[in-house]
Amino acid sequence: MSKMGMNIQSHIVEQERLYPNASGSLTGLLMDLIYATKIISREVNKAGLVDVLGITGNTNVHGEEVKKLDEYANNSLFNAMDHGGHLCMMASEEMEEAVPVPDEFPKGKYVLMFDPLDGSSNIDANVSIGTIFSIHRKVSEGADGKLEDCLQKGRYQVAAGYVIYGSSTMLVYTTGNGVNGFTLDPSVGEFLLSHENIKTPAKGKIYSANEGNAKYWDEATKKYVEYLKEKDSETGRPYSLRYIGSLVADFHRNLLYGGIFLYPIDYKDPQKPKGKLRLLYEASPLAFIVEQAGGLATTGNENMLDIEPSELHQKVPLIIGSKEDVLTYQKFYNEYN
Ligand code: AHG
Ligand code: MN
Ligand code: MN
Repeated sequence: MSKMGMNIQSHIVEQERLYPNASGSLTGLLMDLIYATKIISREVNKAGLVDVLGITGNTNVHGEEVKKLDEYANNSLFNAMDHGGHLCMMASEEMEEAVPVPDEFPKGKYVLMFDPLDGSSNIDANVSIGTIFSIHRKVSEGADGKLEDCLQKGRYQVAAGYVIYGSSTMLVYTTGNGVNGFTLDPSVGEFLLSHENIKTPAKGKIYSANEGNAKYWDEATKKYVEYLKEKDSETGRPYSLRYIGSLVADFHRNLLYGGIFLYPIDYKDPQKPKGKLRLLYEASPLAFIVEQAGGLATTGNENMLDIEPSELHQKVPLIIGSKEDVLTYQKFYNEYN
């Protein structure tokens, strides 16, 4: 029976019942998270009317300009999540160190990592932005969260999701049992099931990449993107280029329509080739979601979910999307590396 229109709270409780030993803590955690994203959504929707646009004047750990909404979203998440008793630790793209839950609050068995506001360069132009989250079970001894709790393979995620603040606000999440999407109905203030059991097409017709960097890409990516542009009716080429520059929005579109997103390593500085996107806050949660929807994510070298993280703000090349498209990329990667 279709569950369309069901509110997200009921859906989460239903998912929890699949695990008879569940304590309800993950459910509680997700409820707190949903509340925080509603607060962020409200603020994003007011952007332009009140003084929330523009920069704070600070730079973050990645050397990027911090926008006022980056900071607002980060604080909203932190403040909504620190006292629920479900978490022992939080880590964010916008915070240099992982932050343990303050001692005044009970400590829980989960770790939350997030990109509070993704696509922040698009904020001031009213273009879709998002929030990405990743939840792991604590693995260290004792009540306090430790760095090792954050540095777990993506495959061990308990839940992951994102919120897209677009023409409507949507929350898409998985607890490892399929992917479901909910649209925020502003009249009732609830997320309602609008995209049940999302499966991404096995193959798409879209590629998404910042082609301004193409000159500095590795050979495999250059050759692959050239291949996508060649005409061949059998394989549906040429592909169309769609690139927003907000990972959540690019990912979400490709998840629904099919296609491939590429942010490879670039060699602008040949001594220091680097990826841009962050493993723990961006690549890993989206990889978990895409696999649950039948797609795939890789660095070229390795399945994204099998990477053993070495540091909190680790950056990786990210190739993600429809399975056949990612496998074709993989062939190019293997041939040219
Ligand atoms: P964030 O706003 O969280 O720093 O993330 C920005 C990311 C991501 O959203 C997007 O895919 C990518 O940066 C765009 O980078 P380019 O501007 O280099 O294309
Ligand atoms: Mn981001
Ligand atoms: Mn961000």
